[in-house]
Amino acid sequence: VDIAVKATGGNATSPHQYGFLHEDINNSGDGGLYAELIRNRAFQSSSIFNSTLDGWTPINGAALSLKDLDEPLSKALKTSMNVAVGSLSSSKRNGSSSSQAVGFANDGYWGMDVKIQPYTGSFWVKGEYEGSFTASLRSNLTGEVFGSTEIEAKTSADEWVEHEFKLTPTKDAPNSNNTFSLTFDAAGAKDGSLDFNLISLFPPTYKGRKNGLRIDLAEAIEGFHPTLLRIPGGNMLEGNNSNAWWDWKNTLGPLKDRPGFSGVWGYQQSNGLGLMEYLYLAEDMDLEIVLGVYNGLSLNGDIIPKDKLQPFVDDALDQIEFVSGDASTTKWGRRRAELGHPAPFKLQYVEVGNEDWLAGGDEGWATFKEYRFPMFLEAINKKYPHITVISSGSVFDGYEVPAPGAGDYHIYGTPDSLVDQFDLFDNVTIPHIIGEAAAVHPNGGLGWDAGLLEYPWWSGTIGEAVSMIGYERNADRIIGAAYAPIVRSLDRWQWAAVMIQFAADPAKTTLSTSWYLWELFAGHLMTHTLPASSDFNPLYYVTGKNEDKGTYLFKGAVFNATTDEVPVSLIFEGLRPGTEAELTILTGPEDPYGFNDPFTGVNVVKTVKEKVVSDEEGRFAFSMPDLSIAVLETKSA
Ligand code: AHR
Repeated sequence: VDIAVKATGGNATSPHQYGFLHEDINNSGDGGLYAELIRNRAFQSSSIFNSTLDGWTPINGAALSLKDLDEPLSKALKTSMNVAVGSLSSSKRNGSSSSQAVGFANDGYWGMDVKIQPYTGSFWVKGEYEGSFTASLRSNLTGEVFGSTEIEAKTSADEWVEHEFKLTPTKDAPNSNNTFSLTFDAAGAKDGSLDFNLISLFPPTYKGRKNGLRIDLAEAIEGFHPTLLRIPGGNMLEGNNSNAWWDWKNTLGPLKDRPGFSGVWGYQQSNGLGLMEYLYLAEDMDLEIVLGVYNGLSLNGDIIPKDKLQPFVDDALDQIEFVSGDASTTKWGRRRAELGHPAPFKLQYVEVGNEDWLAGGDEGWATFKEYRFPMFLEAINKKYPHITVISSGSVFDGYEVPAPGAGDYHIYGTPDSLVDQFDLFDNVTIPHIIGEAAAVHPNGGLGWDAGLLEYPWWSGTIGEAVSMIGYERNADRIIGAAYAPIVRSLDRWQWAAVMIQFAADPAKTTLSTSWYLWELFAGHLMTHTLPASSDFNPLYYVTGKNEDKGTYLFKGAVFNATTDEVPVSLIFEGLRPGTEAELTILTGPEDPYGFNDPFTGVNVVKTVKEKVVSDEEGRFAFSMPDLSIAVLETKSA
């Protein structure tokens, strides 16, 4: 394929081309990116899920029960765990001189990683107690204690008192089958029981943030150089019904004021990973946010009608003010400052709802187009003219989004259908995000009826590459694309194909084949595309330059070639002969369905980087095998 790239023409490229969606699916929040180690730390419940003692077991005959006390820890956390010292322990309490340690253990999100590093813990207690508490991390298999600490009690019969502690194990645990335990002297509990709530334990977190993120997962995400973060969903934003959407206000401030959320993926959520935590994530990774606001359509088909919609519009305006409002002159900006961040976060994109062509059924979608989106668009742009307001559907869902709004297009497809995306946006003038994208089904299969493939696989990744190249060619109108979902717990999940797999044991954290694609493409951003001469298929490509770096770029993918190798000859108009470039080629396993398996740890993606120099005519010559991806970037001028 002879590719002659022109020095002028093409279009400016949005700088947010590669990013991801985060919502709590697959325990990607609680038990995932959110670093809290204690599962069910506050016995939260909702209209969908009851409080339970899941995750908790008694130690030494203690009796654990849930109680809704007259004086709960907080309005948000009504249910607590009563720990009665048990008959054996209480008989000792009534006479024996020897003390008996009783308490409870928590086995975390299917285990806990225990290392020689400082853990930060806290818990609230109510009840009269004389003595101290012992917090420990120990093996579930052998009982071996890897680390423990004594916490002096400062309890009271009438009040909830918080206890904080630090715990540094003296030994790394050999596996993640470990528990956290908290014990106390049965004899010291004056009336035979104590009440506990909000029992929390964090390992060191990403960038050292309090209430922060799990380091290896955050670094794995950061490692693919994302520039766009779409939050908080996804279905999570919409909620199970119109009384149970992801209300950002419930996610702010001290943990004791966060009631939890009736997650839409089959489990109760803690609200620990709240709006502020998302904003810090964006700030720490320098991500542009697409902030989802609830618009009165929920997953069960609930529709908030026009005459009741204004409070939701106002709520969205408050949310925007919370993120980006001035700390001294606005109510919600002030609230953000109180929570520790006086400077406004940058906010350029707000999305109204999620997949509303689906959730509210035909009726909901009709209301979206008729009045819902227009109401949000007008109100948001009136107050924040610089914000691009994004509809949760696209022109391909039958919505010619009114100016100055943008659309959101989602694609979960087969490799073939992703390759078909290549020119999808060539003639679309309305700006769009690709709010969710991934290869999830094999070609020629049953599609959604057969479920999703369990891991991103190589030919699926190539399909993604072709579609991404297509989007990037149109990146004056494609604001950016988000891979979704981004991570999955191997222990409990609802959606298999994700970019990063994980378990409690960090050794299981696995970068999928798609991670390598996105890392390569996102690591080589253009500021402008440049037109080129050749046709496409089986080589799909985009060419351009990065004016900030003074480089020229080629990104390509070969899909379904009839020859083993596709020779490429690439010449950039005006670039002097003898120019050096770095060429990176990714190839996959022989089996196009090969994937990166967390249980073997084998990476099937082969990355070859080489220095190439253009010949006396200014030509870079190389070849690409079938099912390969390449990026060539010239050295900075
Ligand atoms: O990414 C998983 C789900 O797929 C999202 O929550 C939803 O928007 C889409 O249907």
